[in-house]
Amino acid sequence: MTHKPLLATVLGQRQERPPIWIMRQAGRYLPEYRAIRTKAKNFLELCYTPDLATEVTLQPLRRFDLDAAILFSDILVIPDALGQSVRFEAGEGPVLDPVSVESIAGLGKERDALDHLAPVLETVRRLRAGLAPEKTLIGFCGSPWTVATYMIGGRGSPDQAAARLFALRHPEAFAALMDLLVQTSVDYLVAQFEAGADVVQLFESWALNLDDVAFAERVIEPNRRIVEGVRARVPNAPVIGFPRGAAGNLARYADQTGVNALGLDYATPLDFAAQHLPSSLPVQGNLDPLRLVAGGAQLDARVDQVIAAFADRPHIFNLGHGIVPETPIEHVERLVNRVKNG
Ligand code: CP3
Repeated sequence: MTHKPLLATVLGQRQERPPIWIMRQAGRYLPEYRAIRTKAKNFLELCYTPDLATEVTLQPLRRFDLDAAILFSDILVIPDALGQSVRFEAGEGPVLDPVSVESIAGLGKERDALDHLAPVLETVRRLRAGLAPEKTLIGFCGSPWTVATYMIGGRGSPDQAAARLFALRHPEAFAALMDLLVQTSVDYLVAQFEAGADVVQLFESWALNLDDVAFAERVIEPNRRIVEGVRARVPNAPVIGFPRGAAGNLARYADQTGVNALGLDYATPLDFAAQHLPSSLPVQGNLDPLRLVAGGAQLDARVDQVIAAFADRPHIFNLGHGIVPETPIEHVERLVNRVKNG
C-alpha cells in the first residue's frame, strides 16, 4: 500500500477527491520560472543542469497543493542524446536538423545516450531526496512516433506530413528509427525508475492524423514495446499513457499497450470513458487549458463536470494538454482548491 494518493490512483485505487497535477506545471506562466530560465544560456542547458532543473521542478509545488512533481526536462533530450542537433529558438519552438534515410543508421553511434542524459537522472535523484513522502514523482519520455515527427520534420507541424510521408516511403529506415527510439526510451525510463521516479508518463502528443493501420504500427506497438521492455527490468512499473488526439483509437490504445492509466485530451467527451473504457481503468484529465486562462464561473462548472463524470473510477485531475504561458496564477489556485475541496 502506498501513501502517495496520486501513485495509488495510477495503480487503480480511487481516492475520495481526485489527486491533481498539471501538464507543463513548471513553465513560463510562473515568474520564478522565467527568472531561473535567464540563468541558463539555452533551454537544453536548463534541462541538463541538475541545480536549476531541480529548482524549477519544485517551484509549482511551493505555490500549489499539487500531488505530484514532474521531472523538468523535455521529450527532445532523446534526439539530442542520439547526436541529432536540437535547438530551442525563442518564439519558434524546437528546431532540429532533420534526419534522412542515410543519417538514421549513424544515430546513437557517436556517444552513449544514457551517459549524455546522466544530468537528468541526477535531477531525478535530487528530487527523490527532496520531495515530501506523500508526493508522487513523475518521470517521462516522448513516445517514439511523437519524437520521430520532430526528428523527421525538423520542427512541430500541424499535420506531421513530413514524418507521415517518410514512414510510407521509407519503411525500413523508419522501422530502424522506431526501434532505436523504443530501445533508448526503455533504457532511459528504467534509469528514471532506478533514480527514484514513482511513475512515468509516455507523451504521445501527435497521436492524431493517423489511419487505423498507421495508429497500430506507429503508436500502439511502440508504446506496448516500451511498457513491456520497462516492466521486464522494473516489475510492475506504473505507466500513464497520454495519446493526444487518439479519439476513436483511444480504447484500443488502452487495451493493447498495457498502460496502467490513460490520459485524456480535452476533446475527449466526458461520457467516452463510461461508454468505451473498463470501469477499473484509471483516467487522467481533461480540462481545456484555455478554460484555465479564462477562469471564473465557467471554470468552476467544468471542473465539477469533469470530476462528476469520472466519479465511478480512479481519476487523476489534470488538463487535457499543457498549461499555457498566459494562464493567471490565481486561476491555478482556484482550480487546485476546487479539485481538492469541492
Ligand atoms: O510538464 C512539465 O512541467 C515538465 C516539463 C516538460 C517540458 N516539455 C518543458 C518545456 C514536459 C513534460 C515537456 C514535454 C514536451 N515537450 C512535449 C509533450 C507534451 C506536449 O506539450 O504535447 C512536447 C511535444 C515537447 C516539445 C517542445 N518543447 C515544444 C513543442 C516546445 C516549444 C513550445 C513551448 O511551449 O515553448 C518545448 C519547449 C519547452 N519544454 C518549454 C518548457 C517549459 C518552454 C521553453 C522555454 O522555457 O523557453
